[in-house]
Amino acid sequence: MDPLELTRLVLLVVHFVGLAAIIGAYILQMPRRSGFDFSPVLVGSIVQLVTGVALIAVNEIGGTEIDRAKAVVKLALALVVLVLAIVGMVRGRAIKRAERTDAPLRAVLWGAGIVAIANVAVAVFWR
Ligand code: HEM
Repeated sequence: MDPLELTRLVLLVVHFVGLAAIIGAYILQMPRRSGFDFSPVLVGSIVQLVTGVALIAVNEIGGTEIDRAKAVVKLALALVVLVLAIVGMVRGRAIKRAERTDAPLRAVLWGAGIVAIANVAVAVFWR
């Protein structure tokens, strides 16, 4: 197999693992009212950004045109997920120190999960 194609496929596999980390963490914690863990969402969103940008680069090098508008929308949605993950981590720590409930972070977790699912929809439907 051509090394560039192999690189693209490896990146795509890691891209799927990253999305599983975000959406898996969301689904697992969906029924919770408190006690949220945003670390898989944070790691997953960083993985998505890095592998996503690398996938664009590899496609460009290989001569495959990636829709610019689609890439920009995916990048923007992934950044929203990253920001929500950072908010969840930072506020979660502050709430823990103050020994209060992290129940208000439920909306942040749902936001990250839904925006990540929206990004899957963009990836699949935007052709
Ligand atoms: C929450 C973040 C993200 C999710 C859930 C996500 C989801 C997906 C999914 C499901 C696919 C496979 C689509 C298919 O092959 O039919 C895909 C492919 C792709 N994604 Fe993402 N993505 C995310 C972030 C990003 C970012 C930030 C970029 C870059 C700006 C990006 C660029 C790409 C590219 C270029 C492909 C096509 C790969 C190829 O066929 O070679 N993604 N993404």
